[in-house]
Amino acid sequence: MHIDRYERLFLYAAVALLVVFMGALAVSSFAFGIRVPTAYEQVDPRTVATPPSPWGLPEAERMRELSPGRYEVYVLAQMWQFTPRTIIVPKGSQVTFYVTSRDIQHGFKIANTNVNMMALPGEVGVLSATFDTPGTYNVICHEYCGALHHTMFGQIVVEESGAER
Ligand code: CUA
Repeated sequence: MHIDRYERLFLYAAVALLVVFMGALAVSSFAFGIRVPTAYEQVDPRTVATPPSPWGLPEAERMRELSPGRYEVYVLAQMWQFTPRTIIVPKGSQVTFYVTSRDIQHGFKIANTNVNMMALPGEVGVLSATFDTPGTYNVICHEYCGALHHTMFGQIVVEESGAER
């Protein structure tokens, strides 16, 4: 079958581009560890706020220190608040957020970090961030969730005191 020279070059170029894109995908996935956020696990939104569910614990017990400087925190979203609303960690902490909703769709975004996900009833979203710079990081609900959506926020307070650990 005769294929025109330019058409053949074009076919080669298209295949070469595909190889480049697949390579970029492999590098970002394996070398840089970039992952698309997906549901970590399923929960029942009707019982998720009741012990022994970790989202049913008192606010003060929602955060656990797993090892020095490494925390996990269970954040529950509902109309129109996050609990715990304020999370306090020392500078340099690596915090993993387990986020779900007990009612409708919310969002969970921490300003100046890569933490940005939906909070969905029945699904648990998980993302981590390392807080090297002391200060207050605002947490906002960025999915419209009704009349008081704009009042739904929280904060991460990163304290200087982490230095002497
Ligand atoms: Cu919750 Cu908007």
